[in-house]
Amino acid sequence: MKGNDALIETLNGLLADELTAINQYVVHSEMAENWGYGKLKKTVRARSIVEMKHAEKLIERILFLEGMPKVSELNTIAIGSDIPRQLSNDLAAEMSAVKHYNKAIVAAASAGDYATREILEHILQDEDAHVNELEEKRDQIGQMGIQNFLATQAGE
Ligand SMILES: [Fe+2]
Ligand SMILES: [Fe+2]
Repeated sequence: MKGNDALIETLNGLLADELTAINQYVVHSEMAENWGYGKLKKTVRARSIVEMKHAEKLIERILFLEGMPKVSELNTIAIGSDIPRQLSNDLAAEMSAVKHYNKAIVAAASAGDYATREILEHILQDEDAHVNELEEKRDQIGQMGIQNFLATQAGE
């Protein structure tokens, strides 16, 4: 089914966000593992896999709309040099994803493409959960201090 060109462009923008997030999270999860924070590694890795599924859904939808998925364009990957910076960069990425998905949902509706809108709404729920997860960790660091927080993340 031939889709609206502007909407395909919007979906490609979301795809760039997802591909950027995957790269950022894979590096952050490996850095966490390298420092011995196995629990944090698992959380971040799980988040990267969710973003991979989002990228897949977007690629599938762009192809269905007879567009060409752009997989070679990434945004700036914001690698943090320590855990608090990583969490803060990841939170910024998720907040930006929420903003972009909300805008894209409006764009899909105004293009009269409610099936695309529904796909985007499902993804938005995941991004919302990611913001929640990262805000929780930020608050824990604020309340218990970074050393105590890191102690909770050490191990397998
Ligand atoms: Fe995502
Ligand atoms: Fe996310």
